[in-house]
Amino acid sequence: MSIKILGTGSYLPEKRITNDDLSKVMDTSDEWISSRTGIRARHISVKDTTCDMAVKAARIALEESKVAPEELDYIFLATVSPDCATPSTACLVQSELGAVNATCMDINAACSGFLFGLNTAMAYTKAKMAKKILVIGVETLSKLMDWNDRSTCVLFGDGAGCAVVEADESKDVIVDVGSDGSLGKVLMCEERPLKNFLVDNDESMSYVSMNGSEVFRFAVKKVPKTVQAVLDQGHIDKDDIKYFVLHQANQRIIESVARRLKVDLDKFPMNLDQCGNTSAASIPILLDQMNKEGMLERGDKIILCGFGGGLTWGAIYLEW
Ligand code: UT7
Repeated sequence: MSIKILGTGSYLPEKRITNDDLSKVMDTSDEWISSRTGIRARHISVKDTTCDMAVKAARIALEESKVAPEELDYIFLATVSPDCATPSTACLVQSELGAVNATCMDINAACSGFLFGLNTAMAYTKAKMAKKILVIGVETLSKLMDWNDRSTCVLFGDGAGCAVVEADESKDVIVDVGSDGSLGKVLMCEERPLKNFLVDNDESMSYVSMNGSEVFRFAVKKVPKTVQAVLDQGHIDKDDIKYFVLHQANQRIIESVARRLKVDLDKFPMNLDQCGNTSAASIPILLDQMNKEGMLERGDKIILCGFGGGLTWGAIYLEW
């Protein structure tokens, strides 16, 4: 038993901020941002919560899939920017959708979150614990940014993407995932500091901090390896893969991966120029845009690959 994607959905907040817009409020430039990352614009939420964006994306995916909310067995929602510590954003989404039969939980694997969500969905269907699952990647990263730190805040954006997946025996799905917590400090966002009747602590909430060059080095080494691991495991010829859908962090990372895998860059679709890095949401947003543009036909072989905070990584081969 494996999985098939029935339909996808995505949502980007209305407010689009260009690099030039940012250069009016901080010491940066379109030239610096676009030459180092390929990013030209990102969407920033002024009113949508993480749940709001997830629900908007989910409604599109459910409609396309012709699946009623009550048919969902599980909702797995990947995010590092939930609305509350509890309830989970997955539970908030369940309530909005009326997915009354779903069991819901959030997954925190940063930019690999959607991949980890699909991996979990696959395990549940293999164990015959579920037939239909909604997997969501959603982020409101703008609230985790230090807007005085130009080295990070220019890179990220907000948005949601999702897929409705169904158990399907006829489909081949191959996965390679991993984590290395010893490198966690290179990309962090600390939560509440220790504070109780024994500990007096005035520290305020912290923001995303990143050692960009360390993350860059990790990505260009690990991504080709995890993609190759999936190809090897499934005895798949890389020429048979129609698209390699990578987490959208940096155009130079994607170009380097294409070079290392010796695959034409045309097979690596990108939307980071318009969305920036939306962490767990980046892969499902791109997948939905490709789907809606008619780039995917049933039977196409694709590889999705995520990497980021944790550090975490993962690749999934699936047939569309
Ligand atoms: O989802 C996964 C998460 N993250 C990533 O994938 C990020 C991976 N890393 C990267 O994409 C790159 O390392 C960055 C884009 C973050 C940085 O690129 P870089 O070529 O490694 O630049 P740098 O960090 O070496 O910075 C060079 C200079 C510094 O100035 P000095 O010290 O050389 O004078 C920075 O202060 O650029 C300066 N700088 C900026 N200048 C204008 C840093 N941020 C900015 C900015 N605008 N926004």
